[in-house]
Amino acid sequence: MQQREATSDLASSGGARGGQMALDAAQASPTPAIAATARILARLKDQPGPLLPVLHAVQHELGCIPAPAVQTIAEALNLSRAEVHGVITFYPHFRTEPPARHKLEVCRAESCQAMGGERLAEHARAALGCDFHSRTLDGEFSLEPVYCLGLCAQSPAVMIDGRPQARVTPDKLDRLLARTREARS
Ligand code: FES
Repeated sequence: MQQREATSDLASSGGARGGQMALDAAQASPTPAIAATARILARLKDQPGPLLPVLHAVQHELGCIPAPAVQTIAEALNLSRAEVHGVITFYPHFRTEPPARHKLEVCRAESCQAMGGERLAEHARAALGCDFHSRTLDGEFSLEPVYCLGLCAQSPAVMIDGRPQARVTPDKLDRLLARTREARS
């Protein structure tokens, strides 16, 4: 709770100290991410508590909040990069890389755990070559934990791109992943 209050205070303190010079330079940048971020800052930086609205707007426009945007935001709002990065990492909604094309969510709650969920989670990690809260090197899949999909009677369960799948074995997961990849090609 204390951390949430701290980040909230931080998010509400940046606008009043905005760095106009840094913002002017950023708007003329040849780097699209920087120029887009600067346009958003020009629109939002003077409102109370500008950091969170700016982060939402940047992610909406760019798909994520890349490192050059973090630098631009920090300079314009007179914050350190670490302060901006701290707010980004505090809220799971924000990401610093573009989203993967597909999302695999593996249920980690009790019923699924009791029905082979841990083995399935290990298989998902191995099959995708990444851990939870990260994505495959080719950007095809992100792997996320989820805590109950309402399919407890048909455990273990996963969700792929918002579609729930019940009684998922490692073999079935392989087939689902392959089908998802093929559907795109
Ligand atoms: S515990 Fe996994 S779906 Fe409910």
